[in-house]
Amino acid sequence: MTKKTIETKPYPDQKPGTSGLRKRVKVYQQPNYVENYIQSIFDCLEGFEGKTLVIGGDGRFYNETAIQKAIKIAAANGFGKVLVGQNGLLSTPAASNIIRRYEAFGGLVLSASHNPGGPEGDFGIKYNVANGGPAPERITDAVFQRTQVIEQYQIIEAPDLDLGAIGTQTVGEMSVEVIDPVADYAELMAELFDFDAICDLFSSGFTMTFDALHAVTGPYAHEILENRLGAPAGTVVNGTPSPDFGNGHPDPNLVYCKDMYDALMQPDGPDFGAASDGDGDRNLIIGRGRFVTPSDSLALLAANAHLAPAYSKGIAGIARSMPTSAAADRVAEKRGIEMHETPTGWKFFGNLLDAGRVTICGEESAGTGSDHVREKDGLWAVLLWLNIVAVRKQSVDEIVTEHWAAYGRNYYTRHDYEEVESDVANAIMDDLRGKLDGLPGTQINGAEVSSADDFSYTDPVDGSTAHKQGIRIVFKDGSRVVIRMSGTGTVGATLRVYLERYEPPAGQHDLETQTALAQQIEIAESLSQIRARTGRTSPSVIT
Ligand code: G6P
Ligand code: ZN
Repeated sequence: MTKKTIETKPYPDQKPGTSGLRKRVKVYQQPNYVENYIQSIFDCLEGFEGKTLVIGGDGRFYNETAIQKAIKIAAANGFGKVLVGQNGLLSTPAASNIIRRYEAFGGLVLSASHNPGGPEGDFGIKYNVANGGPAPERITDAVFQRTQVIEQYQIIEAPDLDLGAIGTQTVGEMSVEVIDPVADYAELMAELFDFDAICDLFSSGFTMTFDALHAVTGPYAHEILENRLGAPAGTVVNGTPSPDFGNGHPDPNLVYCKDMYDALMQPDGPDFGAASDGDGDRNLIIGRGRFVTPSDSLALLAANAHLAPAYSKGIAGIARSMPTSAAADRVAEKRGIEMHETPTGWKFFGNLLDAGRVTICGEESAGTGSDHVREKDGLWAVLLWLNIVAVRKQSVDEIVTEHWAAYGRNYYTRHDYEEVESDVANAIMDDLRGKLDGLPGTQINGAEVSSADDFSYTDPVDGSTAHKQGIRIVFKDGSRVVIRMSGTGTVGATLRVYLERYEPPAGQHDLETQTALAQQIEIAESLSQIRARTGRTSPSVIT
Protein backbone atom coordinates (compact mmCIF):
# COMPACT_ATOMS: atom_id res chain seq x y z
CA MET A 1 0.00 0.00 0.00
CA THR A 2 1.73 3.13 -1.15
CA LYS A 3 0.70 6.73 -0.89
CA LYS A 4 0.72 8.42 -4.27
CA THR A 5 0.44 12.02 -5.37
CA ILE A 6 -1.39 12.20 -8.69
CA GLU A 7 -1.30 15.19 -11.04
CA THR A 8 -4.72 16.44 -12.11
CA LYS A 9 -6.47 19.33 -13.87
CA PRO A 10 -9.47 21.37 -12.65
CA TYR A 11 -13.01 20.81 -13.91
CA PRO A 12 -14.89 24.09 -14.32
CA ASP A 13 -18.25 22.79 -13.09
CA GLN A 14 -17.65 21.58 -9.54
CA LYS A 15 -19.80 24.20 -7.85
CA PRO A 16 -21.94 22.75 -5.05
CA GLY A 17 -25.65 23.67 -5.22
CA THR A 18 -28.42 23.71 -2.60
CA SER A 19 -27.22 20.36 -1.32
CA GLY A 20 -23.74 19.31 -2.42
CA LEU A 21 -22.40 18.62 -5.90
CA ARG A 22 -25.05 16.88 -8.00
CA LYS A 23 -24.27 15.82 -11.53
CA ARG A 24 -25.09 13.13 -14.01
CA VAL A 25 -23.28 9.84 -13.28
CA LYS A 26 -21.59 10.29 -16.68
CA VAL A 27 -20.07 13.56 -15.46
CA TYR A 28 -18.83 11.91 -12.28
CA GLN A 29 -17.28 9.09 -14.31
CA GLN A 30 -14.81 11.44 -16.00
CA PRO A 31 -11.18 10.81 -15.02
CA ASN A 32 -10.35 12.24 -11.57
CA TYR A 33 -13.74 13.96 -11.23
CA VAL A 34 -14.49 12.35 -7.84
CA GLU A 35 -10.84 12.55 -6.78
CA ASN A 36 -10.62 16.28 -7.54
CA TYR A 37 -13.77 17.09 -5.64
CA ILE A 38 -12.93 15.07 -2.54
CA GLN A 39 -9.35 16.34 -2.43
CA SER A 40 -10.69 19.89 -2.78
CA ILE A 41 -12.97 19.32 0.21
CA PHE A 42 -10.08 18.02 2.31
CA ASP A 43 -7.89 20.92 1.17
CA CYS A 44 -10.42 23.32 2.68
CA LEU A 45 -10.55 21.61 6.07
CA GLU A 46 -8.10 21.95 8.92
CA GLY A 47 -7.22 19.77 11.86
CA PHE A 48 -8.58 16.40 10.77
CA GLU A 49 -5.31 14.45 11.15
CA GLY A 50 -6.00 11.30 13.09
CA LYS A 51 -9.73 12.12 13.33
CA THR A 52 -12.77 10.16 12.15
CA LEU A 53 -14.63 10.63 8.87
CA VAL A 54 -18.07 9.10 8.29
CA ILE A 55 -18.89 7.87 4.78
CA GLY A 56 -22.15 6.51 3.45
CA GLY A 57 -24.61 6.93 0.65
CA ASP A 58 -28.04 6.03 -0.62
CA GLY A 59 -26.90 2.97 -2.57
CA ARG A 60 -27.41 4.44 -6.01
CA PHE A 61 -25.29 3.46 -9.00
CA TYR A 62 -21.65 4.57 -8.51
CA ASN A 63 -22.03 4.66 -4.69
CA GLU A 64 -19.51 1.92 -3.99
CA THR A 65 -17.04 3.10 -6.63
CA ALA A 66 -16.99 6.60 -5.18
CA ILE A 67 -16.76 5.28 -1.61
CA GLN A 68 -13.71 3.15 -2.41
CA LYS A 69 -12.00 6.23 -3.84
CA ALA A 70 -13.08 8.43 -0.91
CA ILE A 71 -11.68 5.99 1.66
CA LYS A 72 -8.30 5.78 -0.06
CA ILE A 73 -8.07 9.57 -0.46
CA ALA A 74 -9.06 10.07 3.20
CA ALA A 75 -6.31 7.65 4.25
CA ALA A 76 -3.68 9.42 2.15
CA ASN A 77 -4.72 12.79 3.57
CA GLY A 78 -4.23 11.67 7.16
CA PHE A 79 -7.66 10.83 8.60
CA GLY A 80 -7.28 8.34 11.46
CA LYS A 81 -10.45 6.38 10.88
CA VAL A 82 -13.38 6.00 8.53
CA LEU A 83 -16.78 4.78 9.70
CA VAL A 84 -18.68 3.48 6.70
CA GLY A 85 -22.14 1.93 6.48
CA GLN A 86 -22.29 -1.72 5.42
CA ASN A 87 -22.44 -2.00 1.63
CA GLY A 88 -21.83 1.74 1.53
CA LEU A 89 -25.32 2.50 2.83
CA LEU A 90 -26.26 5.25 5.25
CA SER A 91 -29.39 7.32 4.95
CA THR A 92 -28.64 11.04 5.15
CA PRO A 93 -30.18 11.43 8.64
CA ALA A 94 -28.44 8.26 9.83
CA ALA A 95 -25.11 9.66 8.59
CA SER A 96 -25.82 12.85 10.49
CA ASN A 97 -26.54 10.81 13.62
CA ILE A 98 -23.34 8.76 13.26
CA ILE A 99 -21.23 11.92 12.90
CA ARG A 100 -22.74 13.33 16.09
CA ARG A 101 -22.83 10.14 18.11
CA TYR A 102 -19.22 9.15 17.42
CA GLU A 103 -17.96 12.75 17.49
CA ALA A 104 -16.50 12.47 14.02
CA PHE A 105 -14.69 15.34 12.34
CA GLY A 106 -17.22 15.29 9.52
CA GLY A 107 -18.72 13.08 6.86
CA LEU A 108 -19.21 12.48 3.16
CA VAL A 109 -22.79 11.79 2.18
CA LEU A 110 -23.10 10.31 -1.29
CA SER A 111 -26.49 10.94 -2.80
CA ALA A 112 -28.45 12.84 -5.37
CA SER A 113 -31.45 12.65 -3.04
CA HIS A 114 -34.70 12.23 -4.98
CA ASN A 115 -33.12 12.42 -8.45
CA PRO A 116 -33.22 9.23 -10.54
CA GLY A 117 -30.28 6.83 -10.28
CA GLY A 118 -28.62 4.25 -12.51
CA PRO A 119 -25.90 4.81 -15.14
CA GLU A 120 -28.04 7.43 -16.91
CA GLY A 121 -29.17 9.06 -13.67
CA ASP A 122 -27.60 11.40 -11.14
CA PHE A 123 -24.98 11.12 -8.45
CA GLY A 124 -23.90 13.51 -5.71
CA ILE A 125 -21.37 14.18 -2.98
CA LYS A 126 -21.97 16.41 0.01
CA TYR A 127 -19.67 17.24 2.90
CA ASN A 128 -21.15 17.47 6.40
CA VAL A 129 -19.42 19.11 9.33
CA ALA A 130 -18.94 17.98 12.96
CA ASN A 131 -22.45 18.99 14.08
CA GLY A 132 -23.77 16.44 11.55
CA GLY A 133 -25.18 19.05 9.19
CA PRO A 134 -24.32 20.14 5.64
CA ALA A 135 -21.26 22.36 5.40
CA PRO A 136 -22.09 26.07 5.54
CA GLU A 137 -21.65 28.24 2.44
CA ARG A 138 -18.33 29.55 3.72
CA ILE A 139 -16.96 26.01 3.23
CA THR A 140 -18.82 25.10 0.03
CA ASP A 141 -17.67 28.36 -1.58
CA ALA A 142 -14.06 27.64 -0.58
CA VAL A 143 -14.34 24.10 -1.97
CA PHE A 144 -15.51 25.45 -5.31
CA GLN A 145 -12.59 27.91 -5.42
CA ARG A 146 -10.24 25.06 -4.65
CA THR A 147 -11.66 22.86 -7.45
CA GLN A 148 -10.77 25.63 -9.89
CA VAL A 149 -7.04 25.50 -9.16
CA ILE A 150 -6.44 21.95 -8.01
CA GLU A 151 -3.26 20.39 -9.42
CA GLN A 152 -2.90 17.15 -7.51
CA TYR A 153 -4.56 14.72 -5.16
CA GLN A 154 -3.27 12.14 -2.70
CA ILE A 155 -4.40 8.54 -2.67
CA ILE A 156 -3.31 5.23 -1.17
CA GLU A 157 -2.95 2.57 -3.83
CA ALA A 158 -4.55 -0.47 -2.27
CA PRO A 159 -7.04 -3.20 -3.08
CA ASP A 160 -10.70 -2.33 -2.59
CA LEU A 161 -12.16 -2.75 0.89
CA ASP A 162 -14.81 -5.33 1.64
CA LEU A 163 -17.76 -3.07 2.41
CA GLY A 164 -19.98 -6.06 3.10
CA ALA A 165 -18.01 -7.24 6.13
CA ILE A 166 -18.97 -5.61 9.44
CA GLY A 167 -15.74 -5.00 11.39
CA THR A 168 -12.39 -3.29 11.04
CA GLN A 169 -9.96 -3.24 8.11
CA THR A 170 -7.03 -0.94 7.37
CA VAL A 171 -5.85 1.18 4.44
CA GLY A 172 -2.35 2.55 4.92
CA GLU A 173 -2.28 3.85 8.49
CA MET A 174 -6.04 4.43 8.64
CA SER A 175 -8.60 2.05 10.06
CA VAL A 176 -11.90 1.51 8.30
CA GLU A 177 -14.82 0.27 10.36
CA VAL A 178 -17.80 -1.09 8.47
CA ILE A 179 -20.88 -0.56 10.66
CA ASP A 180 -24.52 -1.63 10.70
CA PRO A 181 -26.24 1.34 9.00
CA VAL A 182 -29.51 0.91 10.91
CA ALA A 183 -28.74 0.07 14.56
CA ASP A 184 -27.74 3.49 15.94
CA TYR A 185 -30.53 5.23 14.08
CA ALA A 186 -33.19 2.79 15.28
CA GLU A 187 -31.98 3.31 18.84
CA LEU A 188 -32.22 7.09 18.47
CA MET A 189 -35.81 6.83 17.21
CA ALA A 190 -36.70 4.60 20.18
CA GLU A 191 -35.36 7.30 22.51
CA LEU A 192 -37.39 10.07 20.86
CA PHE A 193 -40.78 8.44 20.45
CA ASP A 194 -43.33 6.53 22.47
CA PHE A 195 -42.76 3.15 20.84
CA ASP A 196 -45.19 1.45 23.25
CA ALA A 197 -48.03 3.73 22.17
CA ILE A 198 -47.22 3.14 18.48
CA CYS A 199 -47.03 -0.64 19.08
CA ASP A 200 -50.49 -0.48 20.66
CA LEU A 201 -51.74 1.47 17.66
CA PHE A 202 -50.60 -1.25 15.27
CA SER A 203 -51.90 -4.06 17.46
CA SER A 204 -55.30 -2.36 17.55
CA GLY A 205 -55.51 -2.88 13.76
CA PHE A 206 -54.21 0.45 12.45
CA THR A 207 -53.04 -0.10 8.87
CA MET A 208 -50.20 1.60 7.09
CA THR A 209 -48.19 1.48 3.88
CA PHE A 210 -44.64 2.77 3.79
CA ASP A 211 -43.15 3.05 0.30
CA ALA A 212 -39.35 3.05 0.42
CA LEU A 213 -39.26 3.54 -3.37
CA HIS A 214 -36.40 0.96 -3.69
CA ALA A 215 -34.16 3.45 -1.92
CA VAL A 216 -32.20 3.63 1.30
CA THR A 217 -35.01 3.73 3.87
CA GLY A 218 -36.07 0.13 3.16
CA PRO A 219 -33.79 -1.48 5.77
CA TYR A 220 -34.54 1.28 8.30
CA ALA A 221 -38.30 0.98 7.85
CA HIS A 222 -38.24 -2.83 8.02
CA GLU A 223 -36.35 -2.73 11.29
CA ILE A 224 -38.29 0.09 12.94
CA LEU A 225 -41.85 -0.28 11.64
CA GLU A 226 -42.10 -4.03 11.25
CA ASN A 227 -39.53 -5.49 13.68
CA ARG A 228 -39.70 -3.02 16.54
CA LEU A 229 -43.18 -1.51 16.29
CA GLY A 230 -44.98 -4.66 15.21
CA ALA A 231 -46.52 -3.40 11.98
CA PRO A 232 -47.49 -6.43 9.91
CA ALA A 233 -44.97 -7.78 7.38
CA GLY A 234 -45.74 -6.12 4.06
CA THR A 235 -46.31 -2.69 5.62
CA VAL A 236 -43.03 -1.65 4.00
CA VAL A 237 -43.14 -1.90 0.23
CA ASN A 238 -40.27 -1.54 -2.27
CA GLY A 239 -37.99 -2.01 0.73
CA THR A 240 -34.82 -3.32 -0.90
CA PRO A 241 -32.40 -0.61 -2.03
CA SER A 242 -31.48 -0.90 -5.71
CA PRO A 243 -28.84 1.08 -7.68
CA ASP A 244 -31.45 2.49 -10.06
CA PHE A 245 -34.33 2.57 -7.57
CA GLY A 246 -36.17 -0.13 -9.46
CA ASN A 247 -35.87 2.05 -12.54
CA GLY A 248 -38.06 4.57 -10.77
CA HIS A 249 -37.91 8.08 -9.45
CA PRO A 250 -37.26 8.10 -5.68
CA ASP A 251 -39.20 11.29 -5.05
CA PRO A 252 -42.01 10.95 -2.52
CA ASN A 253 -44.61 13.17 -4.13
CA LEU A 254 -48.10 12.69 -5.50
CA VAL A 255 -46.77 12.05 -9.00
CA TYR A 256 -44.41 9.20 -8.13
CA CYS A 257 -46.56 7.84 -5.28
CA LYS A 258 -49.82 8.08 -7.20
CA ASP A 259 -50.83 4.47 -6.58
CA MET A 260 -50.43 4.91 -2.86
CA TYR A 261 -52.32 8.18 -2.95
CA ASP A 262 -55.19 6.56 -4.86
CA ALA A 263 -55.35 3.70 -2.35
CA LEU A 264 -55.43 6.15 0.55
CA MET A 265 -58.30 8.09 -0.98
CA GLN A 266 -60.54 5.00 -0.90
CA PRO A 267 -62.98 4.78 2.01
CA ASP A 268 -61.62 1.32 2.81
CA GLY A 269 -57.97 2.23 2.18
CA PRO A 270 -55.19 2.03 4.78
CA ASP A 271 -55.27 4.46 7.72
CA PHE A 272 -51.91 5.94 6.91
CA GLY A 273 -49.49 6.13 3.99
CA ALA A 274 -45.95 7.45 3.93
CA ALA A 275 -42.88 7.44 1.73
CA SER A 276 -39.33 8.69 1.75
CA ASP A 277 -36.83 9.64 -0.93
CA GLY A 278 -33.54 8.26 -2.30
CA ASP A 279 -31.44 9.15 0.74
CA GLY A 280 -34.17 9.05 3.40
CA ASP A 281 -34.42 12.68 4.37
CA ARG A 282 -37.73 13.61 2.74
CA ASN A 283 -41.21 12.46 3.65
CA LEU A 284 -44.68 12.17 2.21
CA ILE A 285 -47.60 11.89 4.64
CA ILE A 286 -51.10 10.86 3.62
CA GLY A 287 -53.92 9.91 5.95
CA ARG A 288 -56.98 8.12 4.68
CA GLY A 289 -58.78 10.75 2.62
CA ARG A 290 -56.26 13.46 3.41
CA PHE A 291 -52.91 14.40 1.86
CA VAL A 292 -50.90 16.59 4.21
CA THR A 293 -48.80 19.22 2.42
CA PRO A 294 -45.23 19.51 3.72
CA SER A 295 -45.91 23.06 4.90
CA ASP A 296 -48.99 21.94 6.84
CA SER A 297 -47.09 18.94 8.15
CA LEU A 298 -44.45 21.23 9.63
CA ALA A 299 -47.13 23.29 11.38
CA LEU A 300 -48.98 20.21 12.64
CA LEU A 301 -45.85 18.48 13.89
CA ALA A 302 -44.76 21.64 15.69
CA ALA A 303 -48.21 22.06 17.26
CA ASN A 304 -48.33 18.45 18.47
CA ALA A 305 -44.67 17.59 19.13
CA HIS A 306 -45.19 17.74 22.91
CA LEU A 307 -47.10 14.45 22.59
CA ALA A 308 -43.80 12.64 21.90
CA PRO A 309 -41.41 12.02 24.82
CA ALA A 310 -38.44 13.88 23.27
CA TYR A 311 -40.42 17.11 22.97
CA SER A 312 -42.69 16.79 26.01
CA LYS A 313 -41.28 19.96 27.56
CA GLY A 314 -42.27 21.96 24.47
CA ILE A 315 -40.23 23.27 21.58
CA ALA A 316 -37.91 26.28 21.62
CA GLY A 317 -38.83 27.59 18.22
CA ILE A 318 -39.60 26.75 14.60
CA ALA A 319 -37.70 27.51 11.40
CA ARG A 320 -38.92 27.21 7.83
CA SER A 321 -37.40 28.01 4.47
CA MET A 322 -38.68 31.19 2.87
CA PRO A 323 -40.84 29.51 0.18
CA THR A 324 -42.52 27.27 2.79
CA SER A 325 -46.01 28.46 3.72
CA ALA A 326 -46.57 30.53 6.83
CA ALA A 327 -48.77 27.86 8.46
CA ALA A 328 -46.08 27.19 11.05
CA ASP A 329 -45.76 30.90 11.83
CA ARG A 330 -49.28 30.81 13.25
CA VAL A 331 -48.33 28.00 15.60
CA ALA A 332 -45.22 29.86 16.76
CA GLU A 333 -47.26 33.02 17.29
CA LYS A 334 -49.87 31.26 19.40
CA ARG A 335 -47.21 29.51 21.47
CA GLY A 336 -45.09 32.63 21.85
CA ILE A 337 -41.98 30.87 20.53
CA GLU A 338 -39.32 31.98 18.03
CA MET A 339 -40.02 31.69 14.30
CA HIS A 340 -37.30 31.95 11.66
CA GLU A 341 -37.48 32.26 7.88
CA THR A 342 -34.31 31.03 6.16
CA PRO A 343 -33.16 30.51 2.56
CA THR A 344 -33.88 27.17 0.89
CA GLY A 345 -31.45 24.47 2.01
CA TRP A 346 -31.16 22.55 5.26
CA LYS A 347 -27.71 24.00 5.94
CA PHE A 348 -29.33 27.29 6.98
CA PHE A 349 -31.03 25.62 9.97
CA GLY A 350 -27.77 24.35 11.48
CA ASN A 351 -26.80 27.41 13.51
CA LEU A 352 -30.33 27.93 14.84
CA LEU A 353 -30.48 24.29 15.97
CA ASP A 354 -26.99 24.38 17.48
CA ALA A 355 -27.84 27.54 19.40
CA GLY A 356 -31.01 25.93 20.79
CA ARG A 357 -33.18 28.64 19.26
CA VAL A 358 -35.33 26.26 17.27
CA THR A 359 -36.30 22.61 17.81
CA ILE A 360 -38.31 21.82 14.67
CA CYS A 361 -37.56 22.84 11.09
CA GLY A 362 -39.20 22.21 7.78
CA GLU A 363 -39.35 22.99 4.11
CA GLU A 364 -42.03 22.89 1.45
CA SER A 365 -39.81 20.44 -0.43
CA ALA A 366 -41.01 17.60 1.81
CA GLY A 367 -38.37 17.95 4.49
CA THR A 368 -39.03 18.09 8.22
CA GLY A 369 -36.72 17.43 11.10
CA SER A 370 -35.63 18.45 14.57
CA ASP A 371 -32.60 18.99 16.74
CA HIS A 372 -32.04 15.21 17.05
CA VAL A 373 -29.75 15.36 13.98
CA ARG A 374 -28.71 18.15 11.60
CA GLU A 375 -30.43 16.88 8.48
CA LYS A 376 -34.07 16.58 7.62
CA ASP A 377 -35.34 13.14 8.44
CA GLY A 378 -38.05 11.24 6.56
CA LEU A 379 -38.65 8.39 8.99
CA TRP A 380 -38.52 10.77 11.94
CA ALA A 381 -41.47 12.69 10.46
CA VAL A 382 -43.37 9.45 9.87
CA LEU A 383 -42.74 8.28 13.44
CA LEU A 384 -43.72 11.62 14.96
CA TRP A 385 -46.97 11.50 12.99
CA LEU A 386 -47.60 7.93 14.20
CA ASN A 387 -46.83 9.00 17.78
CA ILE A 388 -49.32 11.88 17.51
CA VAL A 389 -52.02 9.68 15.97
CA ALA A 390 -51.42 7.05 18.69
CA VAL A 391 -51.76 9.55 21.52
CA ARG A 392 -54.62 11.63 20.12
CA LYS A 393 -56.49 8.54 18.98
CA GLN A 394 -57.77 10.46 15.96
CA SER A 395 -57.30 10.03 12.25
CA VAL A 396 -54.91 12.22 10.27
CA ASP A 397 -57.91 13.85 8.62
CA GLU A 398 -59.46 14.76 11.98
CA ILE A 399 -56.17 16.15 13.27
CA VAL A 400 -55.65 18.29 10.15
CA THR A 401 -59.23 19.56 10.09
CA GLU A 402 -59.11 20.55 13.76
CA HIS A 403 -55.81 22.32 13.17
CA TRP A 404 -57.30 24.46 10.39
CA ALA A 405 -60.33 25.23 12.52
CA ALA A 406 -57.99 26.55 15.21
CA TYR A 407 -55.31 28.29 13.13
CA GLY A 408 -56.84 28.81 9.70
CA ARG A 409 -55.54 27.22 6.50
CA ASN A 410 -52.69 28.37 4.29
CA TYR A 411 -53.68 27.11 0.84
CA TYR A 412 -50.42 26.29 -0.88
CA THR A 413 -49.07 24.89 -4.12
CA ARG A 414 -45.79 24.82 -6.02
CA HIS A 415 -45.56 24.88 -9.81
CA ASP A 416 -42.25 23.71 -11.30
CA TYR A 417 -41.04 24.39 -14.82
CA GLU A 418 -38.23 21.89 -15.32
CA GLU A 419 -35.38 21.82 -17.83
CA VAL A 420 -35.92 25.37 -18.98
CA GLU A 421 -33.06 26.78 -21.04
CA SER A 422 -30.72 28.48 -18.57
CA ASP A 423 -30.59 31.74 -20.52
CA VAL A 424 -34.36 32.02 -20.65
CA ALA A 425 -34.70 31.25 -16.94
CA ASN A 426 -32.01 33.76 -16.00
CA ALA A 427 -33.64 36.44 -18.14
CA ILE A 428 -37.02 35.81 -16.48
CA MET A 429 -35.47 36.16 -13.03
CA ASP A 430 -33.48 39.27 -13.99
CA ASP A 431 -36.54 40.96 -15.44
CA LEU A 432 -38.51 40.20 -12.29
CA ARG A 433 -35.75 41.63 -10.12
CA GLY A 434 -35.80 44.79 -12.22
CA LYS A 435 -39.53 45.28 -11.54
CA LEU A 436 -39.53 44.78 -7.77
CA ASP A 437 -39.00 48.35 -6.60
CA GLY A 438 -41.98 49.61 -8.55
CA LEU A 439 -44.45 46.97 -7.35
CA PRO A 440 -45.55 47.96 -3.81
CA GLY A 441 -48.84 49.85 -3.94
CA THR A 442 -49.73 48.62 -7.44
CA GLN A 443 -52.55 46.24 -8.33
CA ILE A 444 -51.90 42.97 -10.15
CA ASN A 445 -54.99 41.05 -11.33
CA GLY A 446 -57.02 42.78 -8.64
CA ALA A 447 -54.62 42.30 -5.73
CA GLU A 448 -52.59 45.08 -4.14
CA VAL A 449 -48.88 44.45 -3.60
CA SER A 450 -47.70 45.28 -0.09
CA SER A 451 -44.05 44.33 -0.46
CA ALA A 452 -41.69 42.88 -3.07
CA ASP A 453 -38.06 41.86 -2.65
CA ASP A 454 -35.33 39.39 -3.52
CA PHE A 455 -34.95 37.51 -0.25
CA SER A 456 -31.79 38.19 1.76
CA TYR A 457 -30.95 36.45 5.00
CA THR A 458 -28.72 37.37 7.89
CA ASP A 459 -28.02 34.44 10.18
CA PRO A 460 -28.92 35.63 13.70
CA VAL A 461 -26.27 33.37 15.25
CA ASP A 462 -23.10 34.11 13.27
CA GLY A 463 -24.14 37.13 11.22
CA SER A 464 -23.37 35.46 7.87
CA THR A 465 -25.50 36.63 4.96
CA ALA A 466 -27.06 35.09 1.87
CA HIS A 467 -28.49 37.19 -0.96
CA LYS A 468 -30.68 36.67 -4.04
CA GLN A 469 -32.51 33.77 -2.43
CA GLY A 470 -35.78 34.15 -4.30
CA ILE A 471 -38.34 36.73 -5.34
CA ARG A 472 -41.02 37.32 -2.77
CA ILE A 473 -44.15 39.29 -3.53
CA VAL A 474 -46.60 39.73 -0.70
CA PHE A 475 -50.11 41.11 -1.16
CA LYS A 476 -52.29 43.17 1.14
CA ASP A 477 -54.64 40.25 1.79
CA GLY A 478 -51.67 38.20 3.09
CA SER A 479 -51.35 36.03 -0.01
CA ARG A 480 -47.91 35.52 -1.51
CA VAL A 481 -46.15 34.62 -4.75
CA VAL A 482 -42.55 33.42 -4.59
CA ILE A 483 -40.42 32.66 -7.63
CA ARG A 484 -36.94 31.19 -7.50
CA MET A 485 -34.57 29.04 -9.44
CA SER A 486 -33.88 25.57 -8.08
CA GLY A 487 -30.38 24.88 -6.84
CA THR A 488 -30.59 21.10 -7.21
CA GLY A 489 -31.33 20.53 -10.89
CA THR A 490 -28.71 18.86 -13.06
CA VAL A 491 -29.98 19.79 -16.53
CA GLY A 492 -30.90 23.31 -17.64
CA ALA A 493 -32.75 25.37 -15.07
CA THR A 494 -35.84 24.66 -13.00
CA LEU A 495 -38.09 27.59 -12.14
CA ARG A 496 -40.23 27.16 -9.06
CA VAL A 497 -43.35 29.21 -8.45
CA TYR A 498 -44.76 28.99 -4.91
CA LEU A 499 -48.31 30.21 -4.33
CA GLU A 500 -50.04 30.81 -1.04
CA ARG A 501 -53.27 32.25 0.35
CA TYR A 502 -54.54 32.34 3.92
CA GLU A 503 -58.08 31.40 4.86
CA PRO A 504 -58.99 32.26 8.48
CA PRO A 505 -60.27 29.71 11.05
CA ALA A 506 -63.91 30.37 10.22
CA GLY A 507 -63.29 30.32 6.45
CA GLN A 508 -63.64 27.66 3.77
CA HIS A 509 -61.08 24.93 4.29
CA ASP A 510 -62.15 22.33 1.78
CA LEU A 511 -61.67 24.02 -1.57
CA GLU A 512 -59.64 22.24 -4.21
CA THR A 513 -56.12 23.71 -3.91
CA GLN A 514 -55.59 24.85 -7.52
CA THR A 515 -59.03 26.45 -7.52
CA ALA A 516 -58.39 28.18 -4.21
CA LEU A 517 -55.17 29.62 -5.64
CA ALA A 518 -56.42 30.50 -9.13
CA GLN A 519 -55.95 34.25 -8.60
CA GLN A 520 -52.37 33.82 -7.32
CA ILE A 521 -51.54 31.50 -10.24
CA GLU A 522 -52.62 34.16 -12.73
CA ILE A 523 -50.78 36.89 -10.84
CA ALA A 524 -47.57 34.86 -11.04
CA GLU A 525 -47.96 34.49 -14.80
CA SER A 526 -48.77 38.19 -15.33
CA LEU A 527 -45.65 39.11 -13.41
CA SER A 528 -43.18 36.63 -14.81
CA GLN A 529 -44.60 35.50 -18.16
CA ILE A 530 -42.99 32.13 -17.52
CA ARG A 531 -45.49 30.22 -19.61
CA ALA A 532 -45.30 32.71 -22.43
CA ARG A 533 -41.52 32.94 -22.42
CA THR A 534 -40.80 29.22 -22.10
CA GLY A 535 -43.53 28.21 -24.53
CA ARG A 536 -45.00 25.85 -21.93
CA THR A 537 -48.71 25.59 -21.44
CA SER A 538 -48.48 24.25 -17.91
CA PRO A 539 -45.94 23.42 -15.21
CA SER A 540 -43.99 20.15 -15.49
CA VAL A 541 -44.85 19.24 -11.90
CA ILE A 542 -47.46 20.55 -9.49
CA THR A 543 -47.01 19.74 -5.82
C1 G6P B 1 -32.66 19.57 -1.17
C2 G6P B 1 -32.24 20.35 0.04
C3 G6P B 1 -33.43 21.08 0.60
C4 G6P B 1 -34.10 21.92 -0.45
C5 G6P B 1 -34.44 21.10 -1.65
C6 G6P B 1 -35.00 21.89 -2.81
O1 G6P B 1 -33.50 18.54 -0.81
O2 G6P B 1 -31.70 19.49 1.03
O3 G6P B 1 -33.02 21.84 1.69
O4 G6P B 1 -35.26 22.50 0.03
O5 G6P B 1 -33.30 20.41 -2.10
O6 G6P B 1 -34.03 22.72 -3.33
P1 G6P B 1 -34.22 23.48 -4.70
O7 G6P B 1 -33.07 24.44 -4.72
O8 G6P B 1 -34.19 22.45 -5.80
O9 G6P B 1 -35.57 24.15 -4.61
ZN1 ZN C 1 -33.12 13.66 -0.02
